[in-house]
Amino acid sequence: MLHFYLPIVFSLAFARAQTSSAPTCSTTLTPKNAAPSVASGWEAMVVATGLTSPRGIIFDSSGHLLVVQQGKGIGSLSLTDNGGACVIAGQPSDVILDGTLNHGIELSSDGKTLYASSAEAVYSWSYDPASSKNTSTPRQLVGGMSTSDHTTRTLLLSRKAEGMLMVSRGSTSNLDALAEDITSGHSQIKAFNITSATSLYDYNTDGLLLGWGLRNSVGVAEEPITGGIYSVENSVDEMVRDGQNIHQDNPGEEMNFHGYLNGAKYAQQGGNYGYPSCFAAWDVGTIPNNTGLQVGTQFAIGNQNATINDTFCKNDRVAPRLTFQAHTAPLDMKFNDNGSAAWVTFHGSWDRIDPIGYKLSVVGFSNGSPIESANSSTAAIDIVSNLDLSKCPNNCFRPVGLAWDSKGRLFMSSDTTGEIYVVVRADGSSANSASPFSGLPPTGTASAATTSSTKRSAAPRHMRSSWTLLIAFLVASIFM
Ligand SMILES: *[C@@H]1O[C@H](CO)[C@@H](O)[C@H](O)[C@H]1NC(C)=O
Ligand SMILES: *[C@@H]1O[C@H](CO)[C@@H](O)[C@H](O)[C@H]1NC(C)=O
Ligand SMILES: *[C@@H]1O[C@H](CO)[C@@H](O)[C@H](O)[C@H]1NC(C)=O
Ligand SMILES: *[C@@H]1O[C@H](CO)[C@@H](O)[C@H](O)[C@H]1NC(C)=O
Ligand SMILES: *[C@@H]1O[C@H](CO)[C@@H](O)[C@H](O)[C@H]1NC(C)=O
Ligand SMILES: *[C@@H]1O[C@H](CO)[C@@H](O)[C@H](O)[C@H]1NC(C)=O
Ligand SMILES: *[C@@H]1O[C@H](CO)[C@@H](O)[C@H](O)[C@H]1NC(C)=O
Repeated sequence: MLHFYLPIVFSLAFARAQTSSAPTCSTTLTPKNAAPSVASGWEAMVVATGLTSPRGIIFDSSGHLLVVQQGKGIGSLSLTDNGGACVIAGQPSDVILDGTLNHGIELSSDGKTLYASSAEAVYSWSYDPASSKNTSTPRQLVGGMSTSDHTTRTLLLSRKAEGMLMVSRGSTSNLDALAEDITSGHSQIKAFNITSATSLYDYNTDGLLLGWGLRNSVGVAEEPITGGIYSVENSVDEMVRDGQNIHQDNPGEEMNFHGYLNGAKYAQQGGNYGYPSCFAAWDVGTIPNNTGLQVGTQFAIGNQNATINDTFCKNDRVAPRLTFQAHTAPLDMKFNDNGSAAWVTFHGSWDRIDPIGYKLSVVGFSNGSPIESANSSTAAIDIVSNLDLSKCPNNCFRPVGLAWDSKGRLFMSSDTTGEIYVVVRADGSSANSASPFSGLPPTGTASAATTSSTKRSAAPRHMRSSWTLLIAFLVASIFM
């Protein structure tokens, strides 16, 4: 067998090496765990290690990467940029030392006001991008949010309706009965006009309601062309239906649509999205009494009765635009500049026998909406993932926050490993403007990911991967 493969393998190796144009990179950061599995046409490299639970990330107008280190505060990373994925961060400098800050971060469009959140409140500071320092003490904008369990408060400033700050707040427990009460402020996304603010806003009683019945919608994004507001929701654990525990593959995680802030009308804005009574079907086959259900249909938890039943869930609760595999835990969503792709981080499961998620995926958009229909189970295409999910969660990176830099590279935090990754197109073109789907198999065949070396070496990348291929072939041949 060996003599049969060798010539093929060698010609493959050298053909690939000759066409290589990847620049060499002398800086080296090794991922904490196994190198990520990266889809064909893409590259992912570690740019920072040793951070304290990095969550939300954002670039300031001087190119510093600001990172919320959960339980510590906001740090600023200066990047040494040798092009492409050859980027390395120095040690973080402290911007705001405040252990209550836990996830949310935002900057005004002029770059001179910094926003961050704790479980209780949203704060702003005057900020100097050149020195990457706050130049004022904090001002509290929104308060009254303290709860237990889901305590992150994602922040997003509209770029279509200047001054509107969206704040997402989750539930106090897996099944939070108070979320049924609209005045509780639990499991809601609200928008606050911080331009017209004269005093501190109370989350429960002030603000424009974009949606309620949203268990824990950590990722919030504004589609850049139409101004449509989307969120990604972490759905319920341990779901029971008609006495059967169906939680392994139900319900699905949701991508919801909340209308616009720019004046465009959307009748369902401020509507109830189901939690804690109605949930989106993922694996319809394992749901008892599944007549009329397909992927994404809202159905009732527990035993159906005269008030909460599948008919009510379908007719009276806003259904998701897309549904993702149960327990994958989406935490951030960022559109590219022309609105043709939404990138979603999946932090990964705990409530499932076989771990799932732990990846960065992309969802195709067109004319302000997902390309795939609401009953699709294949809308998320995996770009960066953990190859061996059986090692998760303890020995995997866990994606959280996303940020584009000015060169169209996508940066991603991983909280449990204390890392920041950069994701680029392998051919050097902009990840933001290049088609995310070029070079990938058709939608739904997410298994096309290949393992890419994440350790930088002096040899050209394509040559290195050819040698890996060669060794793999030789090893395989021995066992044939
Ligand atoms: C920056 O913010 C911190 C923490 O919120 C505060 O203690 C400090 O006084 C601020 N710096 C300036 C220059 O106001
Ligand atoms: C926010 O408030 C400012 C000042 O009152 C006002 O000019 C602006 O129209 C408001 N924005 C929205 C989206 O309502
Ligand atoms: C109907 O079911 C819901 C959800 O399980 C439950 O909260 C509610 O108490 C039930 N209502 C009645 C009248 O049994
Ligand atoms: C299906 O739902 C109906 C109506 O709620 C209920 O009477 C019936 O017991 C359920 N069937 C099963 C198999 O649980
Ligand atoms: C389902 O719930 C709705 C209202 O929540 C009620 O009008 C309807 O009668 C219920 N259906 C059944 C079969 O109980
Ligand atoms: C999924 O939804 C699309 C669009 O609404 C519809 O055409 C298609 O029949 C649905 N597929 C299934 C399996 O129901
Ligand atoms: C938007 O980006 C996609 C790839 O992400 C590209 O294929 C498309 O041509 C771009 N469209 C416009 C209108 O620029």
